[in-house]
Amino acid sequence: MAINTKTPDEIEKMRAVGVLAGEQLEMIGDCIEPGISTGELDRICHEFTEKQNAIPAPLNYRGFPKSICTSVNHVVCHGIPSDDKILKNGDIINIDVTLIKDGYHGDTSKTFLVGKPKVMAERLVKTCQECLYLSIEAVKPGAHLGDIGYAIQTHAEKNRFSVVREYCGHGIGTIFHDEPQVLHYGETGTGMELRPGMTFTIEPMINAGKAEVKVLPDAWTVVTKDHKYTAQWEHTILVTETGYEILTYRSDDTIKRCG
Ligand code: MF3
Ligand code: CO
Ligand code: CO
Repeated sequence: MAINTKTPDEIEKMRAVGVLAGEQLEMIGDCIEPGISTGELDRICHEFTEKQNAIPAPLNYRGFPKSICTSVNHVVCHGIPSDDKILKNGDIINIDVTLIKDGYHGDTSKTFLVGKPKVMAERLVKTCQECLYLSIEAVKPGAHLGDIGYAIQTHAEKNRFSVVREYCGHGIGTIFHDEPQVLHYGETGTGMELRPGMTFTIEPMINAGKAEVKVLPDAWTVVTKDHKYTAQWEHTILVTETGYEILTYRSDDTIKRCG
């Protein structure tokens, strides 16, 4: 499997769209409070995307009806925004933003706390963010895709959480979901070797209970089978000569943008 590396010109475009996607997540964070609907969050993001002169990649992607994904509590990913879904104190919500600018994609998500969630839910969210960061720190030329999965799986399981297997990170560029698949579990030294210029997402989904998930009859919404909490964090990453660069970096990230 030959994986494309990006040219310097392509990398500039990936940086530009990554910044926009990060800015959108920062913007929507200020809107998240008890009483707002996920449908309203979608409209706010859609309008912001227009102001950014960008395109919301999810809208009409394989029939997805909205501009962002909003996944609350036991929803793992691909939650469809709705005016009927009102956030309440103690919820956790993942907002997943993918923008297209100049033909290139930037894909990033974060799990937000609504008011004051239970200690367990907050610990899950924090552990999932740590899984993402530990896996990003494993990214460098000569490392393997399995190193990423290993970093995530070991940290999640050390904290007695489980890793969702059915969905993975992905190569990204002019194509939204490209090769390679970036698994969130695995063994060090296995899988493809990383080379400078590769761009892909890492987007661990970590469950408080069992790893099993199912898709609802709407054909999009993925939930935990045991209906326990689940969290997800996602960044779009570039492999550099020395390590990694987070293309969708935000001011609230607690890892260095480059390593
Ligand atoms: N942004 C998601 C990802 O991280 C994909 C969403 S596809 C959609 O890959 F159609 F549900 F929007
Ligand atoms: Co993604
Ligand atoms: Co995403």
